[in-house]
Amino acid sequence: MPAVKVTLPLITFAIASAFSSSKATADSQLTESSTVLEQPGGQMTMKRLSSRSYIFPGNNLSAKQRLDFWTGFSLFRDPWVIAPSSTKDRDGLGPLFNARSCVACHKGGSRGKMSSAGESLPTSLLIRLGPVDRTPDAVSKKYGAQIQPRSIKFNHGRLAQNPEGEAWLDLRYDVIDGKYPDGTSYQLHAPSYQLTKLQYGAIEEGISTSPRFTPNIFGAGLLDAISTSDLLLQEDPADTNKDGISARYNRVVDRDTGEVGIGRFGFKAIHPTLKQQVAAAFIGDIGITSSLFPSETCTEAQVACLAASKLGGHKGTEIPDKLLKLVVDFNAYLGVPPVRNNNGEILAKGKAIFSEIGCASCHTPSYTTDKHYPIAELANQKIWPYTDLALHDMGPALSDGVIEGKASGREWRTPPLWGIGLQQEILGESRFLHDGRARSIEEAILWHGGEALQSQQKFKQLNTQERKALLTFLASI
Ligand code: HEC
Ligand code: HEC
Repeated sequence: MPAVKVTLPLITFAIASAFSSSKATADSQLTESSTVLEQPGGQMTMKRLSSRSYIFPGNNLSAKQRLDFWTGFSLFRDPWVIAPSSTKDRDGLGPLFNARSCVACHKGGSRGKMSSAGESLPTSLLIRLGPVDRTPDAVSKKYGAQIQPRSIKFNHGRLAQNPEGEAWLDLRYDVIDGKYPDGTSYQLHAPSYQLTKLQYGAIEEGISTSPRFTPNIFGAGLLDAISTSDLLLQEDPADTNKDGISARYNRVVDRDTGEVGIGRFGFKAIHPTLKQQVAAAFIGDIGITSSLFPSETCTEAQVACLAASKLGGHKGTEIPDKLLKLVVDFNAYLGVPPVRNNNGEILAKGKAIFSEIGCASCHTPSYTTDKHYPIAELANQKIWPYTDLALHDMGPALSDGVIEGKASGREWRTPPLWGIGLQQEILGESRFLHDGRARSIEEAILWHGGEALQSQQKFKQLNTQERKALLTFLASI
């Protein structure tokens, strides 16, 4: 982490000094940005940069691991089909599902395409259902934990989209106009979500909707490899250090061991391991059962779904452990893009501001991964993900009101920031935050509230040049 730490009144001075530091300091900042920051994933950084995809193996993998990476990729890319079929390795789709392949949502290993405003059958934007803060134990007996807008036709015919799918989504935006203290104006889009064409009637009392826009997945193996003790060192639920920030980890059951671990994956950190996250994606999003999630998602109210789930003809689970492991390996082996900007001076300025205005208090810049992590190539790597993986109250505007594990309606896991500047080029659009409402990195910062409000206000108080330096830094890491 950058060394300069000062309180608010000194900010302008500290930033100014970072800008015009003596040659010796500037050189050391340059060296740091060129030697350390250019390898955000340590030796797992991608060898080359691509403007078309984030899907590349990390640079230090063996030939065998690369082979597994590309085999796992084919299971991530190819659409799953209705069982029984002649393609036994890829059948078992549905009965209810959001998409037919992982890549349908994680386009290029990234965030996919945002649904357009109005009524649609969404893909990359999915809707979870969960209890609200006042009824923490409620579950939807009609729809389960996620709206699956698509289904197989229950007579095993062609794919159908509704009426058998659960619902459609009506997405609306309100425009909010705002101004920085220096007079520069900005505009935010505040979304609202309404489920329509609900197949099993109104959603029950005490259950609410939580929109989730597909996140980036590269580097997830390295996040899995950060040691739990390094994460827990950052936990401060009662804010004993009085910095206004109360990092807290979700506590969730590891389905492999039955033990409670800390949550790392998902927007509210509901999954403790990469394996569990991948298996959950198979069942929740594609309708593929595995040893971790052996039952289809049909609820008791969904009679046709229950009947269809018995017809697939699989003896064991729809994805066997051997193939599940290949998809987990594919995810674990994904590299992290190198830093894109060689302007060491502007990177150093942006990095200093990032720390000065409190961004680094949640977006922890760097770790050395666990040296005992089972995949040796991911172990003991100096990485720069910019996240504490902890839950934070982000204020009312970002709240979805829905509880997941120990995460409340206002809490979200700090997302990693590495590689986010490439989204525009790779996807042709850039979307940020849990529901993709922010159309730029700048908008994402402006939505920060709750524990991050102080930091957001300091961001607004920066002058144009300082804001530009910070945004250039964020687009480059
Ligand atoms: C319908 C769209 C969709 C499909 C299909 C999908 N995902 Fe996701 N993925 C998401 C969303 C949304 C999240 C965030 C989930 C949450 O908040 O719990 C996510 C989260 C993840 C994460 C965790 C990222 C993080 O940092 O928390 C991984 C890894 C992942 N998906 C891998 C996969 C794999 C592998 C598949 C195929 C088996 C897949 N996904 C299929 C939408 C999708
Ligand atoms: C209190 C902790 C906290 C602080 C302080 C904080 N953030 Fe965040 N940041 C988060 C969380 C949590 C999210 C996810 C919120 C959501 O998805 O609704 C987030 C999301 C983001 C995103 C969107 C990333 C993506 O891929 O969607 C960016 C960019 C970002 N923060 C940058 C910053 C910057 C720059 C600062 C300093 C001005 C900052 N953050 C301060 C916790 C924090």
